[in-house]
Amino acid sequence: MTSILSKHILFESVEISDAALAEISLTLEMHRDFRMSVYKDKCMKRRIAIRMRSCRCNDAAAYCALLRQNDHELDLLKKALTIHVSQFFRNPAMFKKLQTAIFPYLFQKAEAAQEPLRLWSLGCAGGEEAYSLGILLREFFSGQLMHTSVEIYGADIDADTLQAAIHAEYIEDRLKEVPTAIRERYFISNGPRLQLTSEIRDMVTFHQRDIMAVETYEPCLMALCRNTLIYFNRPDQEKILLGIAHILPSGGILVLGKSETLVGDARKLFTMVCPVERIYCRL
Ligand SMILES: C[S@@+](CC[C@H](N)C(=O)[O-])C[C@H]1O[C@@H](n2cnc3c(N)ncnc32)[C@H](O)[C@@H]1O
Repeated sequence: MTSILSKHILFESVEISDAALAEISLTLEMHRDFRMSVYKDKCMKRRIAIRMRSCRCNDAAAYCALLRQNDHELDLLKKALTIHVSQFFRNPAMFKKLQTAIFPYLFQKAEAAQEPLRLWSLGCAGGEEAYSLGILLREFFSGQLMHTSVEIYGADIDADTLQAAIHAEYIEDRLKEVPTAIRERYFISNGPRLQLTSEIRDMVTFHQRDIMAVETYEPCLMALCRNTLIYFNRPDQEKILLGIAHILPSGGILVLGKSETLVGDARKLFTMVCPVERIYCRL
């Protein structure tokens, strides 16, 4: 009881002023080339408070000093600031929509243009979303895969997360939404973890890239940017969405997360395809 109480008091007492936030932001930008200013302050403060508690530090000035001296803590903080939680077939209804409506349409489009069907998973975390696309295509579009080449790319800013994506070994929790038959076909138990088979791993390539420069990415027919936009400030959300619009041709598809939406001038560049699943089509 005492320890729960003291933890609570420590949590409550962590206070990060805007000045401390600015100092931490500058330190990360100088030493890790990480631009914290694009993310929402409230979200950053919450994550910094978690690191401060782990370091048993409840004074922001002391934590700033620690960051200046301790390279390892800089890495840990950078990691804590980008949230990497994901799941295979996260929001299964959206994947069902891809299966029944979007992929048939995209294959037709790619075939008519005689171009590869290129897909981007933006903010791909441990690769769960990009690999889910691969599984879906192998399961339901094997005929189309024989004559249309498919390129699935995953982009994330965090190098460790991308290494985990390439390694493709997952804890049970990440497979909660995976139907048993698919799980048996594409995953091999490795102790407490599940290893994705090379058949799917080979379909995806991962790139360490900042989504703030998404307009420089290879053009694609569909971009998924789910549960990532939400951490950015509104002007930066708009910049990202305009960048995505830039790499999508007319008729290309954008998928956002359930709690994300188009903002600013990006609203003029897309039409809604499925409001429930946040699927949009480039005008
Ligand atoms: C919560 S995960 C979303 C994973 C997946 N899209 C999903 O919906 O399950 C957010 C990911 O965005 C990545 N991210 C954050 N800022 C980024 C940036 N500036 N450029 C690229 N990726 C970024 C994080 O590293 C993290 O892996």
